[in-house]
Amino acid sequence: MSADAKNTLVSIGLAAGFLALAGAFLMNLWGRPAAVAFNPPVAPDFTNTATVRLSAAELFRTEGDTSGMACYSCHDEKKPVTVKFDAKGTVILSEPHRDLVMRHGRNNRNDNCFICHDSKNLVLLRAHEGQSFKLTESTRLCGSCHGPTYRDWEAGIHGRTGGFWSRQMGAATRQDCTACHDPHNPAFPPLKPAPAPRPLHLRGVATAPKGAH
Ligand code: HEC
Ligand code: HEC
Ligand code: HEC
Ligand code: HEC
Repeated sequence: MSADAKNTLVSIGLAAGFLALAGAFLMNLWGRPAAVAFNPPVAPDFTNTATVRLSAAELFRTEGDTSGMACYSCHDEKKPVTVKFDAKGTVILSEPHRDLVMRHGRNNRNDNCFICHDSKNLVLLRAHEGQSFKLTESTRLCGSCHGPTYRDWEAGIHGRTGGFWSRQMGAATRQDCTACHDPHNPAFPPLKPAPAPRPLHLRGVATAPKGAH
């Protein structure tokens, strides 16, 4: 075979090879990445930044249902209210108040409603030193017994601080104690852990075990 014929043959061979490659690329014959698994968004209750409960102060601020705090819509201002206890010293709740869970500390220690509520004016709170507070000012009532925690709260190391870090830009905000603690049953409720993160590149490993959340 002559040198010219050889060159022509090689050129044709190369051209055909590249054409085949171009065709393969155009038709996307290989190298397709596996489809990305559907990544469901985290349930909104795990990204919700609200506190675990609505305090009376927040209910009034947001004009929520405050009918439970209109004590004198049911009680008679002239009729004194009495609190009854069973033989073990556990409070006996009347029908309208059965929804309350009375468990402020152990041993029914704070079952007497009038440790906190004013027996002479139900819509007020009354601290043991005799100070009077509105239902919306309960943080100061809590502070009258929980001095060290109240001090921590004032300093911003208990509870939650929001608002502005720089006081020149605006005020810092503090959440009231009852935004996190039920005054009648104040132990902080256990929270469900949020699901684990899903790293997309570790397929298989990332799927949470059944019933993990
Ligand atoms: C839906 C009606 C209703 C509302 C609202 C209500 N109460 Fe009562 N409460 C009752 C009834 C009925 C009783 C039992 C009879 C009584 O003592 O007058 C009672 C009893 C009580 C008792 C005695 C403990 C018990 O369970 O028997 C206390 C203390 C009390 N109420 C405080 C309050 C305070 C404080 C408020 C407002 C923050 C309030 N109540 C709002 C209906 C109500
Ligand atoms: C340790 C203090 C404390 C004790 C003890 C206490 N309360 Fe309260 N209670 C409060 C505070 C504070 C609020 C205001 C609620 C808030 O910010 O969520 C309140 C709110 C209420 C309300 C209106 C809102 C609601 O939660 O339904 C009723 C009714 C009530 N208390 C009844 C009672 C009765 C009846 C007893 C006794 C069996 C009692 N409380 C004992 C502190 C107390
Ligand atoms: C009259 C005093 C008094 C007032 C007012 C009071 N507490 Fe308490 N609190 C106690 C005592 C005493 C205990 C511990 C009782 C025990 O462990 O048996 C306690 C326990 C607690 C606990 C721990 C509960 C647990 O089971 O671990 C929390 C949280 C708490 N209080 C929050 C509050 C909040 C919030 C307020 C205001 C709404 C408040 N307290 C008002 C006396 C008070
Ligand atoms: C933003 C939520 C939040 C606020 C606001 C808050 N607490 Fe707490 N508190 C907690 C949590 C969470 C715990 C820890 C519960 C646990 O360890 O089981 C706790 C624990 C406590 C305890 C148990 C003892 C301790 O120190 O561990 C007391 C008492 C208490 N808080 C009182 C208060 C009082 C009084 C206020 C208001 C001055 C307040 N808290 C405000 C979330 C809050």
